[in-house]
Amino acid sequence: MTDLFLTGIGQLTTNTGPPIADAVLVVDSGVVTFAGRAGDAPDQAGRKRVDCGGNAVLPGFVDSHTHLVFAGDRSAEFARRLAGATYQEIAEEGGGILSTVAATRSSGEEELFALTAARARRMLSAGTTTIEIKSGYGLDVGSEAMLLRVARRVGEELPITVKTTFLGAHAVPREFGDDRTGYVDHVVKEMLPGVAPLADYCDVFVEEGVFSVEEARRIFATAASFGLGARVHAEQFSHSGGAALAAEIGAVSADHLDQATPEDANALARAGVVTVMVPGASFTLRSPQAPAVMLADAGCTIALATDCNPGTSYYEAMGPVISLAVVEMGLGVEQAITAATLGGALALGFEDRGWLGPGARADLVVLHAPTTAHIPYRPGSNLVGATYVAGAPVG
Ligand code: NIG
Ligand code: FE
Repeated sequence: MTDLFLTGIGQLTTNTGPPIADAVLVVDSGVVTFAGRAGDAPDQAGRKRVDCGGNAVLPGFVDSHTHLVFAGDRSAEFARRLAGATYQEIAEEGGGILSTVAATRSSGEEELFALTAARARRMLSAGTTTIEIKSGYGLDVGSEAMLLRVARRVGEELPITVKTTFLGAHAVPREFGDDRTGYVDHVVKEMLPGVAPLADYCDVFVEEGVFSVEEARRIFATAASFGLGARVHAEQFSHSGGAALAAEIGAVSADHLDQATPEDANALARAGVVTVMVPGASFTLRSPQAPAVMLADAGCTIALATDCNPGTSYYEAMGPVISLAVVEMGLGVEQAITAATLGGALALGFEDRGWLGPGARADLVVLHAPTTAHIPYRPGSNLVGATYVAGAPVG
């Protein structure tokens, strides 16, 4: 493993203090051993020197909410929504999530891996070094297991860290008709025991007309008995009680939160639940953005994620997400960058990344720009010059 001596850093985001100008970063055996002002840096010794040319360096992005494993094409649905149909109307007609389920079930595991790996490679080239991947487009034991295997294999074969989440309670599959209770039974009794070894977390889409708080409570209790922490799709379209449930059960994260109230914010802050916001989804659906500033001011740890999925948020790169967070949600630039790096790491239970200082894993990005402000300012450009994972250059 090459030891690195990164010099000429115009702005170093450490997430352990304010950004540092004219900085040096030293990496030994994949771990940061120095991050600070050039004048205080140790000797270059036997390390490989990389001149960053005055550009900014920041931790690799941690994308803590994605639905990356899917097949099929829903661009026609996007066109219908632009013409006035709603997301819920399309779902009620059997489109939406269920159309991706049909396409995903009929795709072979190799094909699904190729599609997912291609997405993950594009994420890496846009500076994302750790991702969460949810299942939820299989909705039967065998297909959900296939999605989770594909997700784990992406982490094994590509230089990107993957955590997996079982989202069997994403929709009721066609074969269960109107029998939602029967499907929840199936999730609890058949699916969770079958797929738990392939998952790090369990998620439930808590929403009016999808799954109720009571159903989610039951699923999360069983998931906990298999050692899976909880993440909750909460308050996306309606105020359905998902955030209060996340606080009650001590979920790792509550996600979306477009309809979250000040009471929710206080409960989530008190319970230490990370609030993961996905502005790409709200933007794509032309629905209100989550109250990010309110959640942050209430003391919540905030994270930003792509929610990458074929229905509501086909975003692979974090740059445009950061731009939406700054322009549409009103977060400050540094606040949004921290949410997209350290916030994401905390949402996935990582202590060794999302920051750059002695002891941190050297997952980092060198921009083609002097400051991180260029990320939200220039959302149409991939400003990532180089990505390093555990000190090794990617690509
Ligand atoms: O996070 N809210 C539920 N799930 C996804 C959308 C999934 C889909 O439309 O395929 C979301 O927005
Ligand atoms: Fe989602």
